[in-house]
Amino acid sequence: MNGKRLLLIVSGGIAAYKSLELIRRLRERGAAVRCVLTAGGAQFVTPLSLAALTEEKVHCELFSLTDESEMGHIQLSRSADLLVVAPASADILAKMAHGLADDLASTVLLATDTPVLVAPAMNVRMWQHPATRANLALLEQRGVHRVGPNEGDMACGEYGPGRMAEPDEIVAAISGLLEPGSGRLAGRRAVVTSGPTHEPIDPVRYIANRSSGKQGHAIAAALARLGAETHLVTGPTIEPDPPGVAVSHVVTARDMLAACEAALPADIAVCAAAVADWRAATEAEQKVKKRGKAPPELKLVENPDILATLSAAGNRRPALVVGFAAETESVVKHAQAKLAKKGCDWIVANDVSAGSGTFGGDANTVHLIRADGVEDWPSMSKQAVGDRLAAAIADHLDGSRS
Ligand code: PMT
Repeated sequence: MNGKRLLLIVSGGIAAYKSLELIRRLRERGAAVRCVLTAGGAQFVTPLSLAALTEEKVHCELFSLTDESEMGHIQLSRSADLLVVAPASADILAKMAHGLADDLASTVLLATDTPVLVAPAMNVRMWQHPATRANLALLEQRGVHRVGPNEGDMACGEYGPGRMAEPDEIVAAISGLLEPGSGRLAGRRAVVTSGPTHEPIDPVRYIANRSSGKQGHAIAAALARLGAETHLVTGPTIEPDPPGVAVSHVVTARDMLAACEAALPADIAVCAAAVADWRAATEAEQKVKKRGKAPPELKLVENPDILATLSAAGNRRPALVVGFAAETESVVKHAQAKLAKKGCDWIVANDVSAGSGTFGGDANTVHLIRADGVEDWPSMSKQAVGDRLAAAIADHLDGSRS
């Protein structure tokens, strides 16, 4: 990050203390950091500590005569390579989503055309509130990047998603945005599948499942952050395309297989999509009508297995093929059987039973199954699962390089 200029906006939240560590890590990597501190943020960290760590003036006031004469707020936002909001409170995310500019931080964020990364941190109920979800969805649609939050014990005594990402995770996200292609997976190509497939029955009906694409998209984003040239093949989902990733949007399992094969050769394949095992044997050209009393019979045929096909792709087989196993009982045992049956190298098992919240949720509890054993990972955000899996893949490929 040598020579990169970051504008760090510290908003109000107990996680502001981690921003001090974040500044240290960024400066160790050669980045120059300037800070904007909101009134809320100043309740948790002082301008003096930020100034001491950045060796720069800290900007707090919108209507400050001296600040405006030395460096106006427009210039402040434009002189950076990246704006980082850490912690990003529910309040500042709401202001960003709705274009409010009532203090220096929100004004800078509205005045900028520089990329923005947010590291949300808030109470779990604030994070889960439909208003915050909608604000975030809007920001992500507009291209705002996000790292975290993680799941865990919170300062308020509750448990759940809402903890700010750790400084190292934020540094990795910054590095992925500022220096794409410079990470541990630079020079590697990855194919990732995500989301459900829709298998048409007639022009208005289809067979599908509850996958949202959150897990697969998080993995693609994490691999790209480590520098892999990543191709995401996704079924229908409302998840935004991850930054820095080539994306093929497909509908059916057969389309997904074709797009994956077209994306080869690759070093890494991660199949996180919930591919429909079966499709209707024939697709009716017109809407199937109710006729008589008996419902129509639906004849099913098996879909191609993308994971098994990539695992058996001969000299086009990726060096590391990782599957997922979505199970509702005996999760690890069934996943181990799938590892053998599909011919992949690793399998990531997760519980999708009713009440697990895995489908569509923000968190996941997975077991990484390899030939030599099983690693049980604690419950964490899907983004954190993506980062940890990407790091494990990089470790593995580093080992196979030497
Ligand atoms: O999308 P989210 O809401 O975030 O939820 C994430 C998830 C639960 C979908 C994800 O974590 C997950 O478990 N994905 C795999 C879902 C699945 O289809 O599992 P499976 O056990 O039925 O299939 C095993 C493996 O074979 C998977 O890697 C799957 O992608 C692959 N497969 C299955 C059938 C098929 N025809 N082709 C395949 O490639």
